[in-house]
Amino acid sequence: MTTYAAQEMHLAAFIIAGPGRPGGWRYPQSEDGWLDLDYYRRIAETLERGRFDLAFFADILAVPNRYQASMDSQLRYGALGSLRLEPLQVLATMAAATRHLGLAATKSTSYYEPFDVARGIATLDHLSAGRAAWNIVTSFQDAEARNFSRGAHIPRDRRYDRADEFLEVTHKLWDSWEDGALVADRQTPLFADPARVHPIGHEGEWFSVDGPLNVPRPPQGYPVLIQAGASERGRDFAARWSDVIFVTHYSLDSAIAFSTEMKRRAELHGRNPKDLKILPGITPLVGETEAIVRERKQVLAERIEPEAGLSTLSYHLDVDLAAYPLDEPLPQLNVPGVTGHYDEMREASDKGALPLREVGRMYANRYEGDFVGTPEAVADRMQEWHAAGACDGFMVAAHWQPGAFDDFVRLVVPELQRRGLFRKEYTGRTLRDHLGLARPPAGSWRTERKKAKAA
Ligand SMILES: Cc1cc2nc3c(=O)[nH]c(=O)nc-3n(C[C@H](O)[C@H](O)[C@H](O)COP(=O)(O)O)c2cc1C
Repeated sequence: MTTYAAQEMHLAAFIIAGPGRPGGWRYPQSEDGWLDLDYYRRIAETLERGRFDLAFFADILAVPNRYQASMDSQLRYGALGSLRLEPLQVLATMAAATRHLGLAATKSTSYYEPFDVARGIATLDHLSAGRAAWNIVTSFQDAEARNFSRGAHIPRDRRYDRADEFLEVTHKLWDSWEDGALVADRQTPLFADPARVHPIGHEGEWFSVDGPLNVPRPPQGYPVLIQAGASERGRDFAARWSDVIFVTHYSLDSAIAFSTEMKRRAELHGRNPKDLKILPGITPLVGETEAIVRERKQVLAERIEPEAGLSTLSYHLDVDLAAYPLDEPLPQLNVPGVTGHYDEMREASDKGALPLREVGRMYANRYEGDFVGTPEAVADRMQEWHAAGACDGFMVAAHWQPGAFDDFVRLVVPELQRRGLFRKEYTGRTLRDHLGLARPPAGSWRTERKKAKAA
């Protein structure tokens, strides 16, 4: 098997602009700063001290109500979708507190407009001097549709059709100002050169956009693009458009299979597979000694209600799991929602012979890949996954915020650095620099797509 893993890994932080993990916010050291500027600034400073590549904010556009046809379980248990601040604004405050940390916002192609997203992410890229990323999601819930003046969500294939055209339009908008078009010559006067700023005149099936953008070409050319689709169509979309893939796996085997397949897909799209960075999500539980880890695990377990996890899993799968008995295994389901999350829990349920109740507990406070133990033990597992070609790095989530990020940076990062697996200093300024990705020239997205069609 060809493995593409580079020597050093990349680290992103999966942050929730809200309480996050059900159970985690009840942990004694968790802080209630979800609505405070300083809370996010402090997390950003911690991550930069740990030389992280980027901070990543997932997003949800509704308070989920899929479990028991009610939002009660989400709100009561502080589950994943109970409270979410808007990510671009939170990231702007984090940009002001840091100089190197990459900043990733989730924005949906199903509910927003390309002009708005292209402008928002380009603005963040300028204000942060080239550190912005966009997590492209197609969304998966009727509850979200009903917050955006639509009765129902778009079917999967159609929402990827829309996403493809959405990406064409955002790229055209980012290219609409040539590099150097902003002259700011007071004498002439020539503020912006009209010969180098172009309307885009896009007329498509979903969008009609004149352009140009009212923001110059982003410092990174195109902001870093992140995606997490797991269905056939989602994987193809990710292989074509994204620089980073975020994914969750239950086992090392499925992580290796996914990574190998995605790198091959990227090659089919005429891309260098090394330019596609795969970051599986992990939620490490780390402590100085085994005894501390055992105690933390116990304290967390006592605070987790199975319904809290089932509520979020129901939302992710778009299936009401309250209809199934808690003592029986996860049923075989045809999943309208997120295929990746179903595949992961299907594997966990089958391999561990878990009843639905335990699936709920696991989903509420996930230990993906079992990254639990002393700093050496957690670093061992990360090294194992990385060396096996399962990934190019990790998306690190926290059982409780912000303390678990502090622990990871204080305990695990130095261990990874000691092993030569992670940078000790930043060597560049932009997020593309951190990820080892070149600044794409204007129009390069068209060349890749042409190659994709020829393949
Ligand atoms: C690890 C992971 C993280 C995701 N994060 C988000 C998110 O924050 N917001 C969102 O609307 N969708 C999120 N999604 C959903 C995907 O972007 C996509 O809409 C969904 O997976 C449906 O596409 P698929 O059937 O190709 O998987 C996530 C999916 C995965 C696997």
